Amino acid sequence: MTTKIKIIGFTGSLRVKSYNMAALRAAAELLPNGSTMEIVDLAPIPFFNEDVEAEGVPQVVVDFKEKLATANAILIATPEYNYSIPPVLKNALDWASRGTNLPLSGKPLAIMSASPGMLGGARVQYHLRQVCVRLDLQVLNNPEVFITGANTKFDRDGTLIDDFTRISITKLLIALVNKTQEQNKTN
Ligand SMILES: Cc1cc2nc3c(=O)[nH]c(=O)nc-3n(C[C@H](O)[C@H](O)[C@H](O)COP(=O)(O)O)c2cc1C
Repeated sequence: MTTKIKIIGFTGSLRVKSYNMAALRAAAELLPNGSTMEIVDLAPIPFFNEDVEAEGVPQVVVDFKEKLATANAILIATPEYNYSIPPVLKNALDWASRGTNLPLSGKPLAIMSASPGMLGGARVQYHLRQVCVRLDLQVLNNPEVFITGANTKFDRDGTLIDDFTRISITKLLIALVNKTQEQNKTN
């Protein structure tokens, strides 16, 4: 019997009309059979501060980590800020990397990025991959999804209107679910 794969998705953009959030929403509509996805909002997570941590990890962070712990796989859709990782995303990953409960360790992760630019956020993906080594996330190498010219790939309501992007996201999700199922078989 195959178990249902639960994916947690999040993005480093807080923008209301974020292309990356739109890509996550599109992904939620393109899931392979037997998988579900919940999108988690990173906005309420405070800036990481070791003093705050020492006083007691904020409940919102505890809840975030618990949510991650329930996931079988992770999907990140991130913007590229100055060739690198947006602070909101790095901050959430930093919190998740602390303490003895490490909910991301060993989890399969798929990454995609959307940018109005010509590279679709390619550079942030490689910075993010480096961070994932430390977090022991099992990042999919293929396919890579760079949503270039993102302003032309979604309509004004954030609905995905581009077939190539739709197919790319679908392939990414299939690969993520397959990898997760393979991993679950061997564990
Ligand atoms: C601080 C900042 C830095 C940015 N740097 C880059 C960059 O290095 N490469 C890029 O392709 N786009 C860059 N952009 C443009 C973003 O790709 C664009 O704002 C995009 O829409 C952000 O993603 P979102 O729509 O999910 O919010 C930058 C935007 C901001 C606000």
